[in-house]
Amino acid sequence: MMSPDRAHVSVLFQSVIDSLAPRDGGRYVDATLGAGGHAAGILDASAPTGRLLGLDADPTALVRASENLARYGARALLVHSNFENLNAIAAAHGFAPADGIVLDLGLSSMQLSDAARGFSFLTDGALDMRFNPDEETTAADLVNSLDEKELADLIFEYGEERASRRIARAIVDARPIRSARELAEVIERALGRRGRIHPATRTFQALRIAVNRELQVLDHVLPQVVETLKLGGRVAIIAFHSLEDRRVKNFFRETKGLRVLTKHPLQPTDEEIVANPRSRSAKLRVAERV
Ligand SMILES: C[S@@+](CC[C@H](N)C(=O)[O-])C[C@H]1O[C@@H](n2cnc3c(N)ncnc32)[C@H](O)[C@@H]1O
Repeated sequence: MMSPDRAHVSVLFQSVIDSLAPRDGGRYVDATLGAGGHAAGILDASAPTGRLLGLDADPTALVRASENLARYGARALLVHSNFENLNAIAAAHGFAPADGIVLDLGLSSMQLSDAARGFSFLTDGALDMRFNPDEETTAADLVNSLDEKELADLIFEYGEERASRRIARAIVDARPIRSARELAEVIERALGRRGRIHPATRTFQALRIAVNRELQVLDHVLPQVVETLKLGGRVAIIAFHSLEDRRVKNFFRETKGLRVLTKHPLQPTDEEIVANPRSRSAKLRVAERV
């Protein structure tokens, strides 16, 4: 169990707040609310009347965030939704056009440390990995039902894992696989253990991306971000792996009506990485609607 303080650490917190430059009276959207860390920073910086719409696909995150943001009262409006519905929800609640939008992609330390969610290969939790438990397909469904080639392709494409075929073969031989730890052990037996990074890391990433359709929903939300922003409004996006970051970078570069404010992505300092290892691979890109 992580301490509450640890679970609250928001990646690149100050950079996000500085980039969005929230102001009194502004309307902001945090499309990946999590524990509400960035959201609180935006509400503080836009006091006394700035408002924030917070979205999360995970109902557990909303419970936590609503506690953490209770002190802002009606300035914070929290909605359970996938951010692929950004446009419609922002419009329905009076947050379009918005002065700023933040997306801090991927999963939170709360989700990672919750054994029952199956995100971490260190836990005995069922292989679930859904951000939203209302979605149908779990990681266990994929692991136990795809054929060997489909599994190998998925692990290669979403995990950028070169040993995907060997892993897929080992998984098929070991099925059924029920828990996160079981899957990690199957992969470790197949690949052996070298270095600091667990050999199952890329496979877990691949499954999580597939279960949550992470690249598809990112592709859906990016054009909506532009439509939802007002002129002069800013978007800040934190990506945690190259598949995401490449999409954000190319979209920013290729989209008329966006001015890129980060020639190179902003990354955490060594100090931040020590304090919050999850920030290790974070890249923040910021653009302005012009
Ligand atoms: C990295 S955490 C956000 C942490 C947050 N910025 C903070 O400061 O506490 C990412 C959150 O986004 C949520 N999430 C991921 N993909 C989502 C999606 N497509 N739609 C809505 N929420 C999503 C996850 O459930 C998770 O709670």
